Amino acid sequence: MKPVMISCCPIDDQKPGTSGLRKKTRVFMQPGYLENFVQSVFNAIGGAEGKTFVVGGDGRFFNAQAIQTILKMAAANGAAKIIVGQNGLLSTPSASHLIRLNKTDGGLILSASHNPGGPDEDFGVKFNTSNGGPAAEQVTDAIYEQTRELSRYFILPAGDVDLSQTGQKLMGDMKIEVIDPVVDYLALMETLFDFDKIRALFASGFTIRFDAMHAVTGPYAKAVLEETLGAPAGSVLNPIPLEDFGGGHPDPNPTWARTLMDLMMSDKAPDFGAASDGDGDRNMVVGKGIYVTPSDSLAVLAANAHLAPGYKAGLTGVARSMPTSTASDRVAAKLGIECFETPTGWKFFGNLLDADRATICGEESAGTGSNHVREKDGLWAVLLWLNILAERGQSVEEIMLEHWQTYGRDYYSRHDYEAVPSDAAADLISALRDRLPNLPGHSFQGMNVSNADEFSYSDPIDGSISKNQGLRIIFKGGARAVLRLSGTGTEGATLRIYLEQYAPPDTDLTMNTQDALGAVKRAIADISQLESFVGRSEPDVVT
Ligand code: G6P
Ligand code: ZN
Repeated sequence: MKPVMISCCPIDDQKPGTSGLRKKTRVFMQPGYLENFVQSVFNAIGGAEGKTFVVGGDGRFFNAQAIQTILKMAAANGAAKIIVGQNGLLSTPSASHLIRLNKTDGGLILSASHNPGGPDEDFGVKFNTSNGGPAAEQVTDAIYEQTRELSRYFILPAGDVDLSQTGQKLMGDMKIEVIDPVVDYLALMETLFDFDKIRALFASGFTIRFDAMHAVTGPYAKAVLEETLGAPAGSVLNPIPLEDFGGGHPDPNPTWARTLMDLMMSDKAPDFGAASDGDGDRNMVVGKGIYVTPSDSLAVLAANAHLAPGYKAGLTGVARSMPTSTASDRVAAKLGIECFETPTGWKFFGNLLDADRATICGEESAGTGSNHVREKDGLWAVLLWLNILAERGQSVEEIMLEHWQTYGRDYYSRHDYEAVPSDAAADLISALRDRLPNLPGHSFQGMNVSNADEFSYSDPIDGSISKNQGLRIIFKGGARAVLRLSGTGTEGATLRIYLEQYAPPDTDLTMNTQDALGAVKRAIADISQLESFVGRSEPDVVT
């Protein structure tokens, strides 16, 4: 069978965002659209000839069809081998692990992460490089250049491959290895955590509810938590991946994981609650009656990681994205290790992890992970929490209180204004950018600005510079507001306002978060003239 060359026209809207190319599913389903991007990936990396890739996705609508197209294009472009998850399923962290474990040339991950799935919802494709991490900006820029120049792509006119059974297959000359998505991931987790200790915790009656949100972590969580660690059957909620995530929004935060939140705040709450997103890289952690912010979770995991076997030698450093609260910086200072502040997007942690300058990384957007893979990893975070709970023999609430009494507390919340007209959002940011130099020394709603700038990152490993990564306004008294536009949406703009107020250890550590942030919220609304640009003063989503 011979590859077919198809003539095509360049496409000008395929610029990868924070995490790969995300569009409405119907956009991806247009003839040649996916093909244009995939061929551009192959071209941008010097061709696919003789190379091996991992391919899999979160099971959303169009996943199965897209994988068949990618397999046929990889075969036509001369790839030697593709490792693909059974039924086309791979969580993002497990895909990252497989790329590293099998020393492949990279992987294509099909997901729009926490965005809803279905014919009228979202789809996405992301290319990860051979270190297992999302391609760096130089690579995504090269892919984008290709998409705007492409005049032909190659595809093998083969029939679809049956991916429902594991084993070796052939497509033309290309080998296809269909693997169980869970096996290698589970083996990796066993090297990092004290499974006997966690097993004993469950055996002692400790209870958990893990909400897989009808997404890809279901099979992983069942295999790890229920079948391996002995959590009772039914501990994993919504475990079967569905093409439309049951009509839900698979984003593990207090708004979208409402049912779990309500359970955790009720008198029927289990000891521990957790949830993961569409592709399994995000996590939410909730104790009985207490929600743990992702920023606090990062700080607690960094402070206690040495209790798990995989991290007993200690951490080399901790990295967080700029809008993430500064709680983990204080932990790093106490541990005497480096801490890093990077732009939003997991890809910025890649160099630090590869150079062993950071061991644990995290983001306010519910991502935490470590050097075990090059993606954030939802189930990993849950297992590290369980290992810490098993070692310390305390509740989540006790651990949080002790943490704040040691380091102080960063009251923290993100306010999202969704579906803002793109022009209005851009105007707000550009007007605020212009005002930044004049803000320090002035007071707004009783809050005095001490510093204001636009974040720019200089990568300490390769020296690359990333500009325009968010506006920061720092207030006297330990408060901070950050504004940026989301890079993962597919419609209009989402304005994110990140609010933080530090409370030292000897102050009130148990205030209501939104109350503690009231002053900084009012100040930034005033400074940014939020209502006049956006037409609203209350957010759609509060995390
Ligand atoms: C994805 C990325 C994260 C990032 C998040 C928020 O999940 O993998 O690294 O923090 O998107 O991005 P956004 O641009 O929507 O704030
Ligand atoms: Zn995700």
